[in-house]
Amino acid sequence: MGQPRGRGAPDQESGSMKPKVLVTRKVFPEVLERLGAHFELEVNDTERPWTADELLARVQDKAGIYLTPTNRVDAAVLDAGPGLKVVANMAVGFNNIDVAACTARGVLCTNTPDVLTETTADFGFALLLAAARRLTESERFLRAGQWRNWSFDMMMGREVHGSTLAILGMGRIGQAIARRGAWGFGMQVIYHNRSRLPADTEAALKATHVSKEALLRQADHLMIVLPYSAETHHAVGAAELALMKRSATLTNIARGGVVDDAALAGALRERRIAAAALDVFEGEPQVHPALLDLPNAVLTPHIASATVQTRRAMAQLAADNLIAGLGCGPQAGRPPTPLNPQVLAQGG
Ligand code: DGY
Repeated sequence: MGQPRGRGAPDQESGSMKPKVLVTRKVFPEVLERLGAHFELEVNDTERPWTADELLARVQDKAGIYLTPTNRVDAAVLDAGPGLKVVANMAVGFNNIDVAACTARGVLCTNTPDVLTETTADFGFALLLAAARRLTESERFLRAGQWRNWSFDMMMGREVHGSTLAILGMGRIGQAIARRGAWGFGMQVIYHNRSRLPADTEAALKATHVSKEALLRQADHLMIVLPYSAETHHAVGAAELALMKRSATLTNIARGGVVDDAALAGALRERRIAAAALDVFEGEPQVHPALLDLPNAVLTPHIASATVQTRRAMAQLAADNLIAGLGCGPQAGRPPTPLNPQVLAQGG
């Protein structure tokens, strides 16, 4: 365990009383203004993310990073930034941070839970509906001038209401999806999660816990909401896809890498499952080329939380965390959503 890094101390070397903070991508001007009241900011105001090397070069004299999912903070970044005290991620997912390495060095990490739950669940449902009802495929067909006549089997999709919604991962977003399925669409909700929900929560969600194999076999619509980690890498690959019904759909709003995209493309091409909707991809913004030509794949660029209200709320919460984490503002020392609160307890 490394020494805790004191938070909130002025930067003596540069003479500035304001701690220096890196902002890895542009965010709302009012958020930058808020941050600027407390910190000396270095903002990436280009249209592209900084490379890993650019981040390393810029972190050396910084006390905090306002981090977006486009950049990763790992041991190399922590080594390059010996004065780093807080890494505030503007995302709920934090697979772009090596939290263990941060904790070992006394660096506080934060994320943005709760504020995006309902919005992300809305989008998950939009994707599920789009895949099941062939929405984007139908639109492309119409725009291409291919709609010449009515026919009984034109763009027939799969039923959503009354079908079985299978949720892999049952955190906040999984539960918000379950509510929509059970209460909005009269679906039977089954789920698989490492830890089972309390009985009263299951009853409120009308959700039944099943094994992963049963989940895959019974799914009419599989919704993937698992956080990414070494354990969940390719949690759905060729073997799992082979268990699914040919009529089933798969939606991934979790993280690229939880699904084996190459295996999924194969299953979609051979119609071993009916359709998929993906908002996240392995190695994004690159998309596996085999997915791009498939009519039964709905593809969106990681926008599940992208509404004006939610992105503002995420941006402000990340700012709250950074400001409080660096010992400033009314919540000094009490960041609202720490990932490694033990670092605070160390008295940094
Ligand atoms: C999150 O918050 O983890 C989202 O995926 C980022 O937009």
